[in-house]
Order: sequence, then C-alpha cells, then structure tokens
Amino acid sequence: MAGQVKISGAKNSALVIIAGALLCPQDCRIRNVPSLVDVARMGQLLSSLGVKISQHGDVLDIDASDLSTSQAPYEIVSQLRASFFTIGPLLARQGYAQVPLPGGCTIGARPVDLHVRGLQAMGADVQIEHGMVNAYVAGSSRRLKGAKIYLDYPSVGATETLMMAATLAEGETVIENAAQEPEVVDLANFCNSMGARIRGAGTTAITISGVPRLHSTDYAIIPDRVEAATFLVAGAITNSEISLAPVIPDHLTPAIAKLQEIGVQIVADAPDCLRIVPGEGLRGTDIKTLPYPGFPTDMQAQFMALLSLSEGDSVITETVFENRLRHVAELNRMGADIRVEGNIAVVRGVPLLSGAPVVASDLRASAALVLAGLAAKGKTTIQGLHHLDRGYEKLEVKLLSLGARLQRVTGAIVSPERQLGVNNPTVNSYQ
Ligand code: UD1
Repeated sequence: MAGQVKISGAKNSALVIIAGALLCPQDCRIRNVPSLVDVARMGQLLSSLGVKISQHGDVLDIDASDLSTSQAPYEIVSQLRASFFTIGPLLARQGYAQVPLPGGCTIGARPVDLHVRGLQAMGADVQIEHGMVNAYVAGSSRRLKGAKIYLDYPSVGATETLMMAATLAEGETVIENAAQEPEVVDLANFCNSMGARIRGAGTTAITISGVPRLHSTDYAIIPDRVEAATFLVAGAITNSEISLAPVIPDHLTPAIAKLQEIGVQIVADAPDCLRIVPGEGLRGTDIKTLPYPGFPTDMQAQFMALLSLSEGDSVITETVFENRLRHVAELNRMGADIRVEGNIAVVRGVPLLSGAPVVASDLRASAALVLAGLAAKGKTTIQGLHHLDRGYEKLEVKLLSLGARLQRVTGAIVSPERQLGVNNPTVNSYQ
C-alpha cells in the first residue's frame, strides 16, 4: 500500500458537539462532521426532541430553537451510549430532562454515576426509576447553580455533560480532575463560539462562568485522532508509506511515541500532515492505556494487532475499560500468540499471521481485525461490520485508494485474493 489519506472529523467530538447544539436557541452550523452510523443516530435523537437538522455533505445545520420534549427515546439511547450526553444540555436549557440509563456494552459496565453526582451538585434533583434518569431543577428560574465538582475519575463523558450543563448555570462551576482529551477542548471551543465562558479545558481544572443564553455559531470539528492512528498502524503493519492529513500531531503524541519505539519513523511534512515511513523490522514494546495525555484505550486494539507481528514480548495493560481485550481470541485465531491475565495481555510476536474468519466484538476491535487481515497471509473474513460503521468513515474506500485488497461483501465473493467465508445479509463482512 502507499499514498495519501484524508482524515475525517472526530467522531467523539461530533457526537458531543451535536448534543451540545441543544444548548443553543438559534441556528448552529457544524462542519467537518463525519458520516457515521453513530452520528446519524445522534441526529435522530435530536430530531425526536423536535430539533430541525439538515445535512449537506459534511456540514450539519441544527436548529434547536423549539424543543418539543426533554424526553430521550430508549430505542435510540440503547443503541448509542453517547446519547446520554444530552442530559446536560437538556437540563440546563429546559430545567428538566428524562434520559434512559444507557446500560453497559461489550467493553465494560460504563456507569453514569459521575454525570449524575455532578448534576446533583449543581442543584438538580435526579431520580433513577425503571431504568430512566429523571432530572429536574426546582425554583422559579429553573437554572442549575454553579458548583465545585471533583470527579473521582477523569471521565470524558462526565466532564462533557457537566461542562455543557454549567454553560447556562447561575454562577461559576469548577470541574476538578477533569478529562483533558482533545474532544473535551473541542466541545469547550464550540460552546465558547456560542458565547459560553469556559476556561481551562485541556487541563485538569475547567472553570465555567454561566451565561443566561447562547447564540448561533459556525464551527468546524477537529480531525479524528483515532482514525489517524489507525492509518498509522495500517502503514506500520503492511510496511507501507502513507501520508495523513489533516491531523493535529500533538493529539497523536502517545501513538507516535509507541510507533517510534516499535521501529517506525513518523515525519511531519506540514503542520497538519504526517507521513509514516516503515522501518527495518518491528520490535515489541509495552503499552498501558490511560486518560489523555496517556495512551488512548481507543487505540489499544489496533496496536495489539501490530505488536502481534513485532519481534519480542509486549505487555499491554488496559486500565480504562474492564472488558476491552475481546479481540485477543480473534487475533489468536489468526496465529497471534497473546495470553490474557485480567486486564493484561502478553503479546509474543510471531513472524506471520494467517487469514481466518473472525468476528468483531466492538468498534476498535473491528479496526484491529481489518489491520491484522491486511497483514495476514491468505483470506480473512471479518463479521460484525456494524461496529466498524459506527466509527470509521468509508474505511474500505480509503484503504482501497492506498492499494489494499479488501472488499465489503454483503452478497457474493469478489476478491481474487481473499475469499468470503460468510454471507449473512444482516451482518456485513470484510474479506
Ligand atoms: C469516551 C469515548 C470513548 C473512549 C472513552 C475513554 C465518546 C463518545 N466516547 O467514552 O470512545 O474510549 O471516552 O477515552 O466520547 N466511568 C464511571 N462513571 C461514570 C463515567 C465513567 O465509572 O460516571 C468509568 C467508565 O466505566 C470507564 C472510565 O470511567 O471505565 C472511562 O469512561 P469515560 O471516560 O467516561 O468514557 P466515555 O465518555 O464513556
């Protein structure tokens, strides 16, 4: 493979920024929105609340001037955890919100206690009954009150929920031990572009001075660092020179550092363009996932695929989610040598992976299996592409443009090299 790839807008920014548009009683234009199933679901959720949304390419126009309800439907929340983020803006703007508990998912239990406790600290009355979170603000103004909130863990979602809620609160809110992820900063910049007063996003203490009302905006989302890292790993695992743009290299610091340890060179050709130059051979290294600026959990599975083909032993420790190593069994089916003890995976590098039918267990696991399949000898068939479509925009189109041999198959066999093993009309497959 070789060539250039355009990196799409960040999924995790898009999801929370679309939810954040609920704060605004005027038009919001959001640019660089990736075309993803999750983003479409967030749009559906807003529509169900009475919001008018129109899309032109990667531009989304949102008019949330009239909200017909503050009640999020379970059918959508159960399919998209991020839809829980709407509780913050709905409560801040309407003084009332009813959002179903999202429940766990394949990577972990994923409670929302930190979101709830923070909203309570801001004066909300929150009751959880029959799987529903009912939150309301008493008093004639129905406005939340600024508060000092310490998060037990720097949760991305809780930081975002509370930051959005605080934009319209009375007085000042300080979120201590806040998440520092770039998507949190993107959300803060978006809110500030609507007249919010948020300082310190990107540090561990975020201060929000509440304002009574926000105004219209035109805002572009940052590039997706996880997609960019996935393409860097694609270059490393297939020994290919690939250029990526646009990217914000600072957001990729942990991924770049690990790739360099593995023996791959990363060159900055321009401030927003990185090129991966393959090295002589791949060496194992250790990785521990942590909140930003630590190594992202969302890049763990893809790096595991790479380390399975890197010489020597690597230890991967997953500390963010309790059940995010389910791709190990599938990589082992392809000939990898990985053992798991609790949240630790010991990867013993093998010289070769061999293609096999595999099943994706979650979004980033599906990307890891595509990467492993690109490097493996013979055919690989990946089932469960609904996971992939949640978070990667046109992954196969982008990989094909680089010269990869793969095909999305919902019907017949097409690839000359790798044959389709499964033909299930309800589950798309890669081969
Ligand atoms: C976000 C990202 C996800 C990423 C994750 C960690 C979005 C849409 N998703 O998820 O891609 O993998 O950050 O970088 O932005 N926790 C609690 N109580 C809470 C909230 C979280 O115990 O109230 C725990 C979670 O179970 C998990 C850890 O905190 O173990 C991290 O979760 P969090 O940072 O909240 O991740 P999300 O916002 O769900």
